[in-house]
Parts: sequence; structure tokens; C-alpha cells
Amino acid sequence: MKFFVDTAEVSEIRALAEAGLVDGVTTNPSLIAKSGRRMAEVIAEICAITPGPVSAEVTATDFETMLAEGRYLRGIAPNVAVKVPLTEAGLRTCRALAEEGTPVNVTLCFSPAQALLAAKAGAAFISPFVGRLDDISTDGMGLIADIVQIYRNYPNLKTEVLVASVRHPVHLVQAAKLGAHVATLPPAVIKQLLRHPLTDSGLSAFLADWKKTGQSIL
Ligand code: E4P
Repeated sequence: MKFFVDTAEVSEIRALAEAGLVDGVTTNPSLIAKSGRRMAEVIAEICAITPGPVSAEVTATDFETMLAEGRYLRGIAPNVAVKVPLTEAGLRTCRALAEEGTPVNVTLCFSPAQALLAAKAGAAFISPFVGRLDDISTDGMGLIADIVQIYRNYPNLKTEVLVASVRHPVHLVQAAKLGAHVATLPPAVIKQLLRHPLTDSGLSAFLADWKKTGQSIL
């Protein structure tokens, strides 16, 4: 399973990449706004940190402008994946960009039917938002199960399921059990994955016993 980082904060991505925890990055207009920086500049910096796909999202809503924005974003670096919303114009843009060889991440997916349409439009990734569905008392992980099952039924569909809007480690574990290809994780969730109180207490006990021996390995 690939781990993407869901942020536009370059320093956080750099630190996680140094720890070997970054297979790619996803951004969206809200994350770029939060960074307070110009989009093209941030995307270029992120693309230089990781060779993996870096999703940069179009902000137009009509086909012609979406396509122009997608081509511009793709021109920033060879590892840019253009992100488009799951609308009619978005799917048309997805098909056009995919035919040019650009990987497209279709975002804001909230139903299995939408995911099927994205795959038929040649999306490299489909981004179902589990946390936002859970927020409205709907089963976000049920959507992942449905999409994984549907895509498996049709091996000619090459779209990868990119689990988005992940809020905690349990989302990641459930997604991995279902066989989702990728999860995009906020940096805080990646840090939570590491922690277990028994690891901390076990290590303290080992180190205390080791100290009593008076030995050192080197
Ligand atoms: C995915 O690509 C989105 O950027 C992100 O996962 C949305 O998460 P949120 O629902 O926490 O904003």
C-alpha cells in the first residue's frame, strides 16, 4: 500500500520523506490556501522532494479552462498528477489529459457510481473521501469496500483507489484490509501510526535493565 501525504507544508513533507514515509503527495485548493504560498511555487518544491506523484488541483469549473490549467500544472514537473473534481467537465478533462499521458486524480468522490465513471474516463487515481462521509453519519469505509470490489470485477480498469479524508489510524488499517492501493494521510495521522504505549513502556524497561549491566555495545 502506498502512503501519500495530504498537505502543502513543504517542511513537513521533507521531514517525512527523509524518514522514508512518502510515496507521493496530495494537495487541494484549501491546503494551498493554508500554506499562504503561490501554488506553482509550492508544487515545484514538493515535486523536487519526492519522485512520487504530486496531486495539484485545477480550480476552474469549465472544460476548456480546466484543461488549460491541467496542462499548465503538468508543465511544472514530470511527477505532477492533475487533480480534477468529479463533475461532468472534470471527467471530460480527465479523459483529455489521460489521452495526453497525464496521470489524473479524480477527487471529491462520494459514491461507487462516481468511481466507476472516473475509471471509465481513464483516471489514474480515484479519491473517495471517507472522513467527510463519516461526518454526515454515512459509512465512509463502506464506500472504499464497494469501489475496491467493483474495480476488481473489471481488471481492464487500471484506476487506483486513493483513500482520502483520512482522520485517524483506524481508517488506514481498514483501508489496507480492504486492499485499497493508496491512502493519503495528514502528517499528524502518520505520526499517530508510530505510537503505541506498550512500545514506549517496553523500551523504557529494556533501557533501564541494560543500564544496570554497565555494558555498552560500541
Ligand atoms: C484529498 O486529496 C483531500 O486533499 C483530503 O484528503 C481531504 O481531506 P479533508 O476531508 O480532511 O479535508
